[in-house]
Amino acid sequence: MASNFKAPRGTFDVLPEAAPVRRRIDRTAQRILEAAGYGRIDTPAFEDTDLFARGVGESTDIVQKQMFTFEDQGGRSLTLRPEATASVCRAYLEHGMQKLAQPVKLWTAGPYFRHERPQAGRYRQFTQIDAEAIGSDSPLVDAEMILLAHDVIAELGVEGVLLRLGSLGSPAARTAYLDELRAYLRSREGELSDDVRARIDANPLRAFDADHEGTRRVMDEAPTLLERLDQPDAEHFDEVRHLLDRSGVAYHLDPTLVRGLDYYTRTVFEFECEHLGAQSGIGGGGRYDGLIEQLGGPATPGCGWALGVDRIAIALEPPGGPREGEAEEREGVFVVAEPEDRQAALALVTELRREGLAADLDLADRAIKGQMKQADRVGARHALILSGAGPGTLRNMDTGEERQIDPAKAVAEIAGS
Ligand code: HAM
Repeated sequence: MASNFKAPRGTFDVLPEAAPVRRRIDRTAQRILEAAGYGRIDTPAFEDTDLFARGVGESTDIVQKQMFTFEDQGGRSLTLRPEATASVCRAYLEHGMQKLAQPVKLWTAGPYFRHERPQAGRYRQFTQIDAEAIGSDSPLVDAEMILLAHDVIAELGVEGVLLRLGSLGSPAARTAYLDELRAYLRSREGELSDDVRARIDANPLRAFDADHEGTRRVMDEAPTLLERLDQPDAEHFDEVRHLLDRSGVAYHLDPTLVRGLDYYTRTVFEFECEHLGAQSGIGGGGRYDGLIEQLGGPATPGCGWALGVDRIAIALEPPGGPREGEAEEREGVFVVAEPEDRQAALALVTELRREGLAADLDLADRAIKGQMKQADRVGARHALILSGAGPGTLRNMDTGEERQIDPAKAVAEIAGS
């Protein structure tokens, strides 16, 4: 009987058959990031609530609605991490990494938690791979970051990916721009949809996403933030674009790209996968030159991204079965034996495993026929059928080909084949 317990809403179990694609994502990111000099860091799964309130930003949806916050026995307010950047910056300061050669390049991966409304591709516990380069404001950092994320996604073979790129400039330029945009929208209020009109104060940028025809006409002529960047920010962004153009990475310039976290300055970007429906963002990031200061450190620039492992896994392996090529190849040996040869079977399997080979045996008292079926089920490349002290039979499970094998030499022969 199934129990009444279920994984909590918005969470899921990663079953063994879903593991290979996630492992491939992890390994690909690790290889690409470590080749680029990024060192692995792991931070706690929970932090002082204040770190995220200050780091991610009081006004964001994440801090206002989505944090899993609790009080510990000592009355401290703690929060399950909703993202990695604030924690990595906290660790950078706590361990005096500003004394190291800059930028300090770090990467991490693991579970993150946001109390969002669950739907396909949006969970309350999700997995990110995150990279941060802290301590340099060179546009080279932005370009390198984007290239690395691009390469991870491309190497994995995710199809239909679009890179959106924008710049938010400085907080001051952004505030001035938003005031200008509000004034512009008010000057043409009569042409806007009710929805957009109601949100002029709260979120004027929403108007850029509207489908409403009148609103679209108004927005075609609206000023954009990119046109209002301060000179140094505009030059920085030009250089990032120039570097990307030279590296051959295609991007879509998006003057209205906004991100759900408050710490961004200058470059922002998002990778979208067109096969994913509503939750199409498979990764995103940008520069956060004010964050470390916001956390009480010296003025220190930074830039980074996070990739969404769960969404990339869905893109590579849509529900309903793996795409071609994602199925695992058969490997290893399944030792088949009569009950009286059990001990020999266990000894042989142990020896094969110590040689680094995948080896398995029946653990459920199956008859020989059942053991052969089990060998097939577990995906063994060979079955080794023992027969007392006499020679055993090695069967290739793909071709059905069989040959005799001396059990005493089986380990050496199989290890060498
Ligand atoms: P973010 O855009 O909030 O950025 O998240 C990055 C990626 O994590 C998203 O593109 C998405 O793939 C995945 N993700 C986010 N929330 C969920 C969810 N509820 N369920 C499934 N996947 C999700 C950040 O977190 C920034 N810390 C990135 C960054 C690093 N910026 C600078 N450095």
